[in-house]
Amino acid sequence: MIFTVAIDGPAAAGKGTISRRLADQFGFAYLDTGLLYRAVGAKVADGVEPAKAAETLRAADLTRDDLRSHIAGQAASKVAVIPEVRRALVQFQRDFARQSGGAVLDGRDIGTVICPDADLKFFITARPEVRAHRRYLELGGDEAQILNEIIERDSRDMSRADAPLRAADDAVVIDTSDLGIEAAVAEAAVHVTARLGG
Ligand code: CDP
Repeated sequence: MIFTVAIDGPAAAGKGTISRRLADQFGFAYLDTGLLYRAVGAKVADGVEPAKAAETLRAADLTRDDLRSHIAGQAASKVAVIPEVRRALVQFQRDFARQSGGAVLDGRDIGTVICPDADLKFFITARPEVRAHRRYLELGGDEAQILNEIIERDSRDMSRADAPLRAADDAVVIDTSDLGIEAAVAEAAVHVTARLGG
């Protein structure tokens, strides 16, 4: 069975948690595509040229332990505007999406560019202040500065020419601002069950 769930949305909206939980619940494979851009950003910070960093990306690059940091997030969104970087990562993501047994991919352009024919698309969002607070609880740091970084990163992601962050026209929008994780996952799961059954 090929069944693709595309999950997009701005930074720290809850995409990762919802994706992982759906993948567990339904036995799908899960790909955090943000990690690809974070790993490219980290290689660029080490002196590798961006397109080359993307073209030569290996599984081992995704296991670096510095990829979740705020700095890595900013570095990711800077390399993510480069069309050659995005192009080098397309095929890997599409192959992952079409593997047998079902797949969940989360990112910024999954429902719009990578998998426009996905069986189900979600756009997960929340108010910036709520997202900054979650990132603060997760990683620590200065909450006001985190909010500024999130706003800056969202704005860069939404305004870039190539594959900007936006909800696909046929995406189910879930605002998690006032929704606990259980409720958000349950809401998403209802859509998956309905789509699988239909
Ligand atoms: O976890 P968080 O939502 O903060 O970020 P992420 O999903 O790890 O993505 C980090 C950055 O990579 C984003 O700000 C985007 O600039 C870029 N990205 C992208 O352009 N396309 C994707 N499919 C995934 C991430």
